[in-house]
Amino acid sequence: MYRIIPVPSFDLVIFGVTGDLARRKILPSLYRRFAVGQMLDNARIIGVSRSPISNDQLRQMTRESLAAHLPIGQRDGAIEERFLTCLSSAVNDESLSAWKALGAQLRHESVRAFYLSVGPDIAAGLARDLHNFGLTDQHSRLVFEKPFGSDLASAKALNRSIADLYDESQIYRIDHYLGKETVQNLMALRFANTLFEPVWNSQFVDHVQITVAETTGVDGRGSYYDKAGAMRDMVQNHLMQLLCLIAMEPPSRLDPDSVRTEKLKVIRALRPIESSDAVRAQYAASGTLRDYHADVGQAVSHTESYAAVRCRIDNWRWSSTPFYLRTGKRLAARSSEIAVRFKMPPHAIFSADETWEGNLLLLRLQPDEGITMQVTIKDPGPGGLRLTPAPLDMSFADSLDPKSGVLLTEPYERLIMDVVRGNQTLFMRSDEVEAAWQWIDPIVVRWTDDASPLPRYPAGSAGPIEADRLIQADGRDWRPIAPCS
Ligand code: BG6
Repeated sequence: MYRIIPVPSFDLVIFGVTGDLARRKILPSLYRRFAVGQMLDNARIIGVSRSPISNDQLRQMTRESLAAHLPIGQRDGAIEERFLTCLSSAVNDESLSAWKALGAQLRHESVRAFYLSVGPDIAAGLARDLHNFGLTDQHSRLVFEKPFGSDLASAKALNRSIADLYDESQIYRIDHYLGKETVQNLMALRFANTLFEPVWNSQFVDHVQITVAETTGVDGRGSYYDKAGAMRDMVQNHLMQLLCLIAMEPPSRLDPDSVRTEKLKVIRALRPIESSDAVRAQYAASGTLRDYHADVGQAVSHTESYAAVRCRIDNWRWSSTPFYLRTGKRLAARSSEIAVRFKMPPHAIFSADETWEGNLLLLRLQPDEGITMQVTIKDPGPGGLRLTPAPLDMSFADSLDPKSGVLLTEPYERLIMDVVRGNQTLFMRSDEVEAAWQWIDPIVVRWTDDASPLPRYPAGSAGPIEADRLIQADGRDWRPIAPCS
């Protein structure tokens, strides 16, 4: 039975409220939580921008954001008007009077959270000012968006500057992949069932593939992306978080530190990446799609829009199971999944003519979130005993009762509500972020120092041939990147 448990009254201050993330994700997510009754009328959202906007302008901007980013069926005029009354605006022109005015809007008895939806350089300064101007106390929470640093040194510096002023328990570093339905389900699947854990190791798992394929290019974010590239933008955070959840030991409890400590152990057990373990590439023009250089507006660029890595986890559980990660922009389909391929049975009693593969557990992140277990069965019907693969399929959307009107939650809905509830389980701890940079940095440095031309893959394809060679060298193949049927 689906239950909505309302969160306590809160003041959420969003810095960068006129920015893209707030319009596309944060405000629509808050509306959805309001519409189902999890966020109550007593909540306050204070939108802060650098240029002054009035309450009415902020509400109008929010109306437009909801219209642009929510399907018509998810909007209700009366609820929307009530939601808009929770919103008010404030300016941050760095003057004392602006900080005082913002402080005057905040209530003492409510949960107080500051969402810093701004670049990392600005976020560090805001965290300091909030402290120095007395807007935070030991109960206030600060939400940081990625990228959290651009390498180990900058992440450490940022963590240090925050740690001087705040306790780690007040800091929420967002990786929105941790808020995705399937990612949450991964923990339920592994730790709420007895079926999987006994075979979740090198003895039974042949290999794991983690794919985050996007059809989009750099989407108007060329100046950021060209400095980051796929390794920093996606692998260091989203893909590594997925890797951790797949590979970690069962935590003793579902509390934030137990879970995050287990994830950290996985990152620390990763074998350093050799050059032969990683492939980078850039998309080339194809059909109507432009090439990477045109998209980022640079005649010369050595930034990768695609990265594939072979990872080895040096611990007892995973000693001989490779994990393959790949991600890229302008690929053939938007498809993110984790594929756990099991080994063949140790002894074959079926005819040598029969070819079959080990079981496959597929966790689909998007689109069509769900889980498929591919088992081998007897080909139905009369005749001899032939084998065929068959899916045991579950789509999360289909598993919800359509009459209930319940929708799958978007990552930001869940994560913002967790901030209000004070639950840090789905947020990255400082040591996790640093360990991830520590693992990524050497290969990024090697790539930066290497001025040779990058391999190319046609925009709209499955990626570069070099990535195929990486996995084929181990006698395996990538799963196809194709739109789901
Ligand atoms: C962001 C990256 O963190 O995640 C983007 O900066 C990427 O480059 C996006 O497109 C992908 O998120 P999702 O949820 O659409 O898979």
